[in-house]
Amino acid sequence: MTRRIVLLGPPGAGKGTQAARVSTDFAIPHISTGDLFRVEIAAGSELGMKAKGFMDAGDLVPDEIVLDMLSARISEPDVASGFLLDGFPRTAAQAEALESRFEGGAIDLAVLLEVEEEELVTRLSGRWVCSNPKCSGVFHVVYSPPIVEGICDACGAALVQRNDDKPEAIRRRLEEYASKTSAVIDFYEARGELVRVDSSGSVEDVAGRIESAIDNAIPA
Ligand code: AP5
Repeated sequence: MTRRIVLLGPPGAGKGTQAARVSTDFAIPHISTGDLFRVEIAAGSELGMKAKGFMDAGDLVPDEIVLDMLSARISEPDVASGFLLDGFPRTAAQAEALESRFEGGAIDLAVLLEVEEEELVTRLSGRWVCSNPKCSGVFHVVYSPPIVEGICDACGAALVQRNDDKPEAIRRRLEEYASKTSAVIDFYEARGELVRVDSSGSVEDVAGRIESAIDNAIPA
């Protein structure tokens, strides 16, 4: 069966952590616009260079750049089984553009992960990510430390902190989320497609809540 799901939530809510599980459990590709940009930046492409300055500062990348990249990705054949979008859409214009790509409704469900702001800052400040752009390893110095300090459990590459996990960029990202992404929440709520999930507590507890929300909204 086809499942088209959007995972929404503020920076640090656990979208990437949970998306990896949902993608495996429901056999749908995980498409993260942040990850797509980071691959382009690592490759030194023109697209990556255009996005880098915005990302490092904690600003959203302009819609036209995001939409070109996302449009190309959702034209690939694996999307026939559905998709899990992580970090997209982030503006009303992006949500409307996605809608216009699919006749009869673009998505089955938007899952909004909710966490207190203080916890978001704790999660982001302690995050370490794999430096290998093809690996999506994400760790936390306290909540989910790697087996060997500084080394990715999955691929053995060095762990690094993201440029946008510095305090000033975290603050800016939270502002961008509050000012621009609330319109996306309203968009899906008005269509009756939004479910809110408490993303506090352990990774396993949150995963269970998300899975139940998906099973309830899109029965197999
Ligand atoms: P993006 O990469 O999407 O970043 P983000 O939305 O800010 O989200 P994060 O990746 O920081 O957090 P997350 O929710 O995935 O949390 P994670 O699972 O890692 O975007 C980056 C930038 O790209 C944007 O700022 C923008 O510039 C640009 N961009 C991307 N998409 C765009 C778009 N559509 N339009 C315009 N610009 C765009 O978890 C965080 C930490 O917490 C980890 O250390 C993890 O181990 C830990 N953790 C997770 N869950 C738990 C838990 N339950 N308990 C304890 N710790 C936990």
